[in-house]
Amino acid sequence: MLSIPVIAIDGPSASGKGTVAQLVAEQLGFHYLDSGAIYRLTALAAKNKGVSWADESAVASVAQYLDVVFEGARIILAGSDVTEAIRSEEIGSGASKIAALPQVRLALLARQQAFSMQPGLVADGRDMASVVFPSAVLKVFLTASASARAERRYKQLIGRGETADLAVITADLEARDARDRERIVAPLAQAQDALLLDTTELDIQSAVRQVLTWWRQKIE
Ligand code: DC
Repeated sequence: MLSIPVIAIDGPSASGKGTVAQLVAEQLGFHYLDSGAIYRLTALAAKNKGVSWADESAVASVAQYLDVVFEGARIILAGSDVTEAIRSEEIGSGASKIAALPQVRLALLARQQAFSMQPGLVADGRDMASVVFPSAVLKVFLTASASARAERRYKQLIGRGETADLAVITADLEARDARDRERIVAPLAQAQDALLLDTTELDIQSAVRQVLTWWRQKIE
């Protein structure tokens, strides 16, 4: 069987990895997996069912039976379009909480791996390189300073017409980073064989170019 090429892009919240991963996928004609969306969907589905984010086995069961359809850029959960709803700060924070539960991660593993299809996949998240796609051809750890990330998130929220407070956003980001880094299972970390891409001083297009250059070097 022909192996399916995977590019794994991991990194902290608001590092720009989602945008970079999507653009790289577009350029290469590859499929794209936003694994954070899967955790966010699980947090939202649990909330909708009245399941506590701290109840590991109940959330794992929600994860296992997640009724989700990806229709292009739209995400449909149990028949409702939740594309915007899963992007709220509340659901992001819930996703980070349920992501620390080992049974939940296990329940979501096969669902994420199923995105790996020809001609290839670009996957972004926290443990794409270490757990979900350990044999990825290219592994990138994409990060930026906490203040650069907080500022990007702030501009994004203001751009959407939402109210935002930079100090609150910074505190939320730091709390989420700490929880993602310090958890026992699949913590956020640079895989030993991942290349580091720091975008503090880099725009999106330059980051995309760098990933594509690394990709060409890997497959040559
Ligand atoms: O990338 P994001 O902000 O949409 O992810 C939301 C949360 O989901 C994040 O705080 C941690 C968790 N997550 C994870 O643990 N593993 C992944 N592969 C992706 C996301």
